[in-house]
Formats: sequence, C-alpha cells, structure tokens
Amino acid sequence: MTQKLKILMFPDPKLRKVAKKVTKFDKSLQNLASNMLHTMYEENGIGLAATQVDHHIRLIVMDLSEKRNEPMFFVNPEYKILDNHSTCSYEEGCLSIPGFNEEITRPDKIDLKWQDLDGNTHNDKPKGLLTICIQHEIDHLEGKLMVDYLSSLKRDRIRKKLSK
Ligand code: NI
Repeated sequence: MTQKLKILMFPDPKLRKVAKKVTKFDKSLQNLASNMLHTMYEENGIGLAATQVDHHIRLIVMDLSEKRNEPMFFVNPEYKILDNHSTCSYEEGCLSIPGFNEEITRPDKIDLKWQDLDGNTHNDKPKGLLTICIQHEIDHLEGKLMVDYLSSLKRDRIRKKLSK
C-alpha cells in the first residue's frame, strides 16, 4: 500500500543533510519512490526529493504534466552547466517552505545524467520547467534550499514565520 510521508519543514536541520548515492535498485527503493510520488500528489507539488521525507538517498520524484499523470523518477541525478551566461528566472515554491514563492535565477542550459528505478543510465539536455525543477530538487539532495539564494534578511523573515 502506498503511504503518505511526513515532509520536513524549513528550518529543520535534517533538510541540511547531504544524501548518499543509491547503490541498490531493489523493492525498497521502488516503495519509497511510490510513497514519495503519492505524497507529492497529495500536497500538490511538482517535485519532491527524498531528503524532504527524511530519507537521505539520491532520489527525486517529479510530475510536470497538467493532468498529473506523467511521473518521473531520477536516481543519482547530476548535471553540468553548459552555459553560465544563459539563465532564467522562475517563481519557485517548495513543499518544505509552504506559503512562500520566490523568484530564483538559475542556469537554463544543463546536461543532465541520471538513473531510473532499475538502474539504467539516461542522459538529456532538458528544456523548460524541468531544467529549473531538477536543479531545485538536486539542491535538496545537497542539503541546499531555495531560501539560500535569497538575502539573509529575507531568509530570516521566512524562518521566523515558519517557526511560529
Ligand atoms: Ni523544494
């Protein structure tokens, strides 16, 4: 049975852990992935990293489709920035920072490599929202949050509001 998982909220220090590489492509990985997907759909998110549900392995689930029926799974994802001067800005949100949307600027030309749930390797140069979203989620695996891109003043204001 799929299970809804508890999402860690900023400023929980567990969100700062660096996730470990996945080496076993077994049933427990698939179970975690489907529970994460279920949790993401329940919370109306478009992406979720394992770090956010207190599992510190390099796994990300995502669905950018309008009908919410095109799940994507990224295991051990990594990317190279192809052009540091080509960027785009997008108003990002995060299930671990509810109620805050902030405009973040990121490189928009990347070369992405990842594995699927069976361990097969894939490579792509993503376009559009996927480019932004995958960088946001990979940041989570590194213990980094979108508030880290804001001024410390703004970050403290968000921390205070969410700590209440
Ligand atoms: Ni997030």
